Amino acid sequence: MTVLTKEQVLLFACEIPGQTWYRELSFLYDAVAESKRHVEVGVYCGRSLFVASHGMQSGEIIAIDNRQGMGVVPVDFARDMTNLVIRHANPKVNITLIEASSVDASRRRECQGPFDSAFIDGDHSFEYVLSDIESWLPQMRIGGLMMGHDYWAAHLGVMDAVHKVFGGCCNVVRDSRLWHTKVGVPWTYPWVDEVSG
Ligand SMILES: C[S@@+](CC[C@H](N)C(=O)[O-])C[C@H]1O[C@@H](n2cnc3c(N)ncnc32)[C@H](O)[C@@H]1O
Repeated sequence: MTVLTKEQVLLFACEIPGQTWYRELSFLYDAVAESKRHVEVGVYCGRSLFVASHGMQSGEIIAIDNRQGMGVVPVDFARDMTNLVIRHANPKVNITLIEASSVDASRRRECQGPFDSAFIDGDHSFEYVLSDIESWLPQMRIGGLMMGHDYWAAHLGVMDAVHKVFGGCCNVVRDSRLWHTKVGVPWTYPWVDEVSG
């Protein structure tokens, strides 16, 4: 089986319908390199899922989407696209796709932590982001990386929820909408940080 380079993974990913930018995917790819258990809330067509699987060496991803149809493509198309993406994901990473709300999924036996990393990209309203973070935070290992998407003025609910939980103890990738924090360890300055690639 052909091993894809990081650049190939990111270029393929950008062909999958979705809103995450190349720069954000680049950060995600690097951020999960050491991760053995990763959880994703909000799969849509599988863009970030594809990148996370190839960024990891091996392990497991729990991928959750309630298929409430928040995107521009029809729900059935998003389901089919996700299945196609999973067929082209990293074969060393076992992906469990769960069609349920994030909060309900977090209570399932197969979704129990500890997770090394999490990517929160479901509903972007304040209440949902808050409940997503609060549901998955206890499932993270100490030192694990919690990330999320759409931290920008177009989604004030995301910003408010992140601030409510973490205060200033979180970073945003420069020129992106990606927030991240290491769980249970002192905050590392700067607020805005760099990304390679
Ligand atoms: C912004 S899209 C995810 C984009 C994806 N991460 C990517 O890189 O393309 C948000 C997705 O979250 C799902 N969603 C919304 N609310 C949810 C919830 N409470 N639980 C699980 N999934 C949810 C929607 O069905 C939608 O597919």
